[in-house]
Amino acid sequence: SKSLLGLKGMSREEITSILDRAAYWEKHPSKVHQELQGKFVANMFFENSTRTRFSFEVAEKRLGAQVLNFSAAVSSVQKGESIYDTVRTLESMGIDAGIIRLKPSGVLEHLASHIQIPLINAGDGNNEHPTQALLDLYTMRKHFGYLKGLKVSIVGDIKHSRVARSNLWALKEMGAEIRFCAPEPMRAAELADHVQYVSMEEAVTEADVVMMLRVQLERHEESMFGSAEEYRLHYGLTAERAATMQPHAIIMHPAPINRNVEIDDEMVECERSKIFTQISHGVPIRMAVIERALS
Ligand code: CP
Repeated sequence: SKSLLGLKGMSREEITSILDRAAYWEKHPSKVHQELQGKFVANMFFENSTRTRFSFEVAEKRLGAQVLNFSAAVSSVQKGESIYDTVRTLESMGIDAGIIRLKPSGVLEHLASHIQIPLINAGDGNNEHPTQALLDLYTMRKHFGYLKGLKVSIVGDIKHSRVARSNLWALKEMGAEIRFCAPEPMRAAELADHVQYVSMEEAVTEADVVMMLRVQLERHEESMFGSAEEYRLHYGLTAERAATMQPHAIIMHPAPINRNVEIDDEMVECERSKIFTQISHGVPIRMAVIERALS
């Protein structure tokens, strides 16, 4: 099966082929195609989502698939049914592929090895969010025309970020120069051999892409920084800091956004911000990934 569990270990050729197929779909905007006519795809979200869930649903419908939406909150998960039993149940009903978002890290691989249908990771704990990173790479490649040598700074709550991890693996494979910037408690010790941490000044002034991460308040066991205002002061992309970016540099953020915490309100839709462009690229990227899973 052509599952997509993560980008760690995916080759440059394979990443490029997904980005190229997404470019094809972006150039063919006629609303509904027939590629997946007669296929049933289930969106299984065990954790909340707006962008990922709806762009998968748009992508599935644009490919002509039948779409089933599963929400843990209104399912038998509330009666104690496990993730495995839930996915096996949907598989038994004859679905052809599953999109899955999970709260815990490290469960998906085990689950996929016991399930026959292809599974696509829509975010698993702090491990990976491969379709997010693919749409991020797509946005960068489309804007600059290349990825090799591109200087990308990822700033913020690295420790809890599956977006940072998926971008790290994919950007490194594509030859980009990636740097992290985070306060000490938000760094990821296990990534120390793979990436360099730089100061906020360096992260902002020397990059082609400044990617801000959401401070994930729901994943913090204890306060990892002082007040929101203090975080903004030291690690926020304030209007003053954004003015020190290179003239050609762009701002990215996977969203949802804590406005005036990691990024100032006025920067969210400023000229150099690609935040809503990233969201629009979620649809063609997910079309390419679902098609890959089912063809
Ligand atoms: N960027 C992202 O994954 O957003 P959602 O959590 O709303 O899907």
